Amino acid sequence: MGILKTIFNNTAEPRGFWGRLMARGMNSGHARQAIWGIGLMDIPAGARILDVGCGGGGNIARLLERDASCHVTGLDHSSVSVAESRALNANAVESGSCDVVQGGVQDLASLFPPASFDVVTAFETIYFWPDVQGCFRRVHDVLAPGGSLYVVNEEAVDTSSAHRWEGLIDGMSVYEPEDIVRMLRDAGFEDVSRTDETRRNWLCVRARRLR
Ligand SMILES: C[S@@+](CC[C@H](N)C(=O)[O-])C[C@H]1O[C@@H](n2cnc3c(N)ncnc32)[C@H](O)[C@@H]1O
Repeated sequence: MGILKTIFNNTAEPRGFWGRLMARGMNSGHARQAIWGIGLMDIPAGARILDVGCGGGGNIARLLERDASCHVTGLDHSSVSVAESRALNANAVESGSCDVVQGGVQDLASLFPPASFDVVTAFETIYFWPDVQGCFRRVHDVLAPGGSLYVVNEEAVDTSSAHRWEGLIDGMSVYEPEDIVRMLRDAGFEDVSRTDETRRNWLCVRARRLR
């Protein structure tokens, strides 16, 4: 259990050698689900996008591939994730269409002014956020009116298989889809809808800030 825990804790915060491997592995391991999620997103031309928990930066690259007129900011509390994301997206960082910031989602209010983003994405990360509903509120506040948060999770429509990870990864919490929807509404989002890919057990929740 010891070595497994050491390795899997890198999903919550990649660190050191195993963390680098995990960040790179997640770029490929989560690719199909991320492509599905990005395909559901309504992203206006020139959107300012924040990808929270950006990991190895694969989804930053996919978002920029989808529309090069957008600007994507990656945010992650792990210095390994930040370094990997910057390296993978070096051209975009160089050209000014991408920034990667080290910090926790719980500290969004001190990292970015209110209404800084049109779209916020959260792929495979909310399980690790402290006080997830408080973090949803922080995300709400950095979204501009009319903006959307997208939460994309796997093993997430039927969560029965996902709970095994809670024993392997410190601080992980698996949420039921209806609880995610409720917490988003309670955090101030006005228009919350979900798309279930039941065959693959993927969930995408969209939450809009209307005013
Ligand atoms: C399972 S990985 C997912 C990475 C990437 N989004 C993907 O889908 O491949 C979770 C990421 O969220 C980050 N993370 C976890 N809690 C965080 C927090 N409170 N604030 C910012 N990043 C966080 C981790 O460091 C890790 O890089």
